[in-house]
Amino acid sequence: MLDPDFDCPNGCDANGFLFDEVTRQAYPCSCREERLRRRAHGDMEASVGRYAPPRFQDLDWSSLPLSGIAERHTAAATHVRRFAERVGDNVRQGRGLWLLGNKGTGKTTLAYYVAQQARAAGLSVLTRNTTDLLNELRDSYKPDAQPTTRQIIDAVTHVELLHLEDVSVPRPNDWVLEQLYTIVNRRYEHNKAIVFTSDTPFGQALKPDALADHIGERTYSRLMQMVGDPILMTGQDYRLTVGA
Ligand SMILES: Nc1ncnc2c1ncn2[C@@H]1O[C@H](COP(=O)(O)OP(=O)(O)O)[C@@H](O)[C@H]1O
Ligand SMILES: [Mg+2]
Ligand SMILES: [Zn+2]
Repeated sequence: MLDPDFDCPNGCDANGFLFDEVTRQAYPCSCREERLRRRAHGDMEASVGRYAPPRFQDLDWSSLPLSGIAERHTAAATHVRRFAERVGDNVRQGRGLWLLGNKGTGKTTLAYYVAQQARAAGLSVLTRNTTDLLNELRDSYKPDAQPTTRQIIDAVTHVELLHLEDVSVPRPNDWVLEQLYTIVNRRYEHNKAIVFTSDTPFGQALKPDALADHIGERTYSRLMQMVGDPILMTGQDYRLTVGA
């Protein structure tokens, strides 16, 4: 987890310093950089806040909903599971995922699973519904708003894993397109990973490039370079088939 005050086997202090009794001088421990990294990322997450609603906490493959999703969408689940097994490497190399499909097929659950595993691996993670994020940005323009525009942009730019939900939902006006482009382009330039989901209405063919109509060509082409082909999840809405 992102606790900067972990116990270090070298017995350094909370700031990652050791003390040399002979020279009577403090010197940095090998863990100091990691402590500083965790503190900076922890502060950033705290300033902007992050959330995983109860429904999407403590996910594991041996119980519902993941076990059910693995049964119905084996290829997608296997892909995500493999990605998550090496989430530290993948995220540090800027590799992300795109989950595209019909509503209620388990895309959001799988994306939260990746976010959960990334945090367990000690990475900083921010989850945002895309529409909510844009509303927060808009609100941050008001005087004295918290978090500030700067804090939000910094966090979504620098967090190690950005998890965006329902990227195709916001109505695309110029301002929306500009914000999405800024966020995606900055992450692209810093080689930072994104995991995101987008819905296609049931009965409509899954056309990945239809996303470009929602987020703009430039943003779409950046994203494609960052995540590759989408993981496809088609089928009936689970909530409707079982009345959940
Ligand atoms: N195969 C499944 N087995 C059990 N529960 C499922 C399954 N697929 C989806 N769910 C549940 O249905 C709801 C919708 O899933 P979600 O991941 O939000 O879908 P999507 O993001 O594709 O709309 C969630 O509460 C999830 O736990
Ligand atoms: Mg969803
Ligand atoms: Zn140490």
